[in-house]
Amino acid sequence: MTDLEPTAQQLWDSRYAEKPLMWSGRVNAVVAELIEPLEPATALDLGCGEGGDVLWLAERGWHAAGVDVSAVAIERATRAADDRGVTVRASFERRDLQVDGVPTGLFALVLASYLHSPGELDRRSILRGAADAVAPGGRLLVVGHAAPPPWADEHAHHHHLPSLDDTRADLAFDDEWTIEVSEVRAREVVAPDGTPGELLDVVVLAKRH
Ligand SMILES: C[S@@+](CC[C@H](N)C(=O)[O-])C[C@H]1O[C@@H](n2cnc3c(N)ncnc32)[C@H](O)[C@@H]1O
Repeated sequence: MTDLEPTAQQLWDSRYAEKPLMWSGRVNAVVAELIEPLEPATALDLGCGEGGDVLWLAERGWHAAGVDVSAVAIERATRAADDRGVTVRASFERRDLQVDGVPTGLFALVLASYLHSPGELDRRSILRGAADAVAPGGRLLVVGHAAPPPWADEHAHHHHLPSLDDTRADLAFDDEWTIEVSEVRAREVVAPDGTPGELLDVVVLAKRH
């Protein structure tokens, strides 16, 4: 990175500042489907954005912590936790995973949902740090875009999105892990112009022995 390039925080803060809310505030559909059956315990969400997944977890009894490089996103997530009455179980920290690494500790669930960035992001070291943060008996869930939305601009189509194989190679699970889900799955969505469409997600869920 040269001195002229924005830092990850500058990049994401300015992106978040474009709108009063960037995301829906709701849990990601894949996260809800796969995590709903689990007993609430402790969770860590990497690149939590405005906190939709953390807040959903906290509302279900999880003690969930979210980290994100953007101070704007963290401020919104913290305010939303207050508004939704879950500050006891939801906490947020501004943290650059690229620079400061994954927080220390062991969690029953470590989640990285759509942890993508147009800036530099060493996913391999972040995902391996994520796996290290899973407690024995706990799970790691990684969800990402397999392809840009059909309605995304030209710029997004030039952006590299890690495939399922890339993600599995980054994670390099050994026999300490049982892979419960490893697939590209389609999800029905409505495009911003109201037309129905389909998005493809890379989904990896693994349980640590
Ligand atoms: C596509 S958004 C997904 C947000 C959220 N997980 C969700 O599903 O709504 C990617 C998030 O990753 C965060 N991010 C990007 N690079 C990061 C880094 N180096 N450290 C921590 N967070 C980062 C961004 O600020 C952004 O909130």
